[in-house]
Amino acid sequence: MSPSSAERSTKRQKIDALTPESYRNGVMLAPMVRSGALPTRLFALKHGAKLVWGPEVVDRAILHATRVVEPISGTIKYMGQQDKAIFTCHPIEKPYFIYQIGSASPGLAVQAAKIVMDDVAGVELNCGCPKPFSTSGGMGAALLSTPDLLCSILEALRRELPAHISVSAKIRLLSTQEETKKLVERIVNTGVNCVTIHCRTRSMRKTEPARIERMKEIVDFVHGLGKDVAVIQNGDCIGYEDARRIRAITGADSVMIATAAESNPSIFSSKPLADLEENLIPSYLRLAKFLDNHWSLTKFCLGQFKGTRDKSTKAANKAVRQAIVRARSYAEVESIASGQLTGEDEFREIEHALASRVHRPPLCLPANVVESSSSGSQSTSNDAMATPPEWRGNPEPERVYDAPKMPVSGLVPPPAGVTGEDLAPSASWMCNIK
Ligand SMILES: Cc1cc2nc3c(=O)[nH]c(=O)nc-3n(C[C@H](O)[C@H](O)[C@H](O)COP(=O)(O)O)c2cc1C
Repeated sequence: MSPSSAERSTKRQKIDALTPESYRNGVMLAPMVRSGALPTRLFALKHGAKLVWGPEVVDRAILHATRVVEPISGTIKYMGQQDKAIFTCHPIEKPYFIYQIGSASPGLAVQAAKIVMDDVAGVELNCGCPKPFSTSGGMGAALLSTPDLLCSILEALRRELPAHISVSAKIRLLSTQEETKKLVERIVNTGVNCVTIHCRTRSMRKTEPARIERMKEIVDFVHGLGKDVAVIQNGDCIGYEDARRIRAITGADSVMIATAAESNPSIFSSKPLADLEENLIPSYLRLAKFLDNHWSLTKFCLGQFKGTRDKSTKAANKAVRQAIVRARSYAEVESIASGQLTGEDEFREIEHALASRVHRPPLCLPANVVESSSSGSQSTSNDAMATPPEWRGNPEPERVYDAPKMPVSGLVPPPAGVTGEDLAPSASWMCNIK
């Protein structure tokens, strides 16, 4: 693709700014450090995610980054010290892309947002990360205990950013419903378009089931405030059909998925891909190479994939996985990535799917109604309140620790708490998630 066609694709994507409505009736890709890499986000969009969130990047990490545009693919990279990408995005995702900031300072949050604002549709304040790297700096879930600071950051973002940049917040449940509603009311009054609620408290482990049953009271409360703010449920959703069940239970405007999408970015579709080794991994490799996604990040993401097996054989799947584990570069997996399409073809397919959204929007979540589903294991109107399907997050979380890391030689550690999708050694979310 020539540079000029990359530019053209940006212009074609011009659609109205995100509004609260944009955050409604959809299944969304959650922010995920490392796992929410650019190719994953594009596949999520292709398979029906309405909006996609990028990995949390701490405010200071982006302040001195240099913006570089790859001339062939149009990929935008914010390069930090040691030539490592702190944040990567692409113009074709821009209308659907939310940039998530880790911050404990209104001034720094605004500065960080202004650096990336031409490449994103919205910015979000992360108020949910419970890990010490984040909370010790007063960021993430620590903000839940400092509501004045939390709200002052959101107010500053809303006041200082142009109106077309949407502002949102992602929080966790507080211990009681009353406390949660009080905080949510304050957040709603800052002028945000959307608040996402991860249905776990700060102290809950990721293996504990999300408290989805607490959500409806909060959603009803926000809707009762009469402000035009969308509320998104997050926690333990395993796919499109399950999102319908969760929506029926909670009344949330939309549902957001992390872990299940990390395992299979096509779960936003009512018919997610099976046999990922055949049906997704080769395409992912081609697209990732075309987008110049760092090999070790691609390898990491592929290592998280886990789908159902339909027609493929165990032996063939194992061979694909082993080849990826052994490979040190895209060149070493060319036989897996080869096929009728090139990476540019994959890119164009996604570009086409996104362009046609103007006339054919992605699969919407029907409001509050769950009809019977042919998929058997999924919900019906009668079982909408039933026990959710067993889901314990990433079934093999330890793989996160073992995953191949970005090259670290000579890397100057970023300031405490600084994260970014490609800053593997310090990318805190990868060490312990939720
Ligand atoms: C690999 C991974 C990375 C994550 N990184 C972030 C992040 O950068 N920002 C954030 O707000 N939440 C992050 N989370 C939390 C998710 O966005 C989400 O709130 C949580 O996993 C619950 O959703 P789930 O049950 O669908 O996994 C991460 C989760 C995972 C699995």
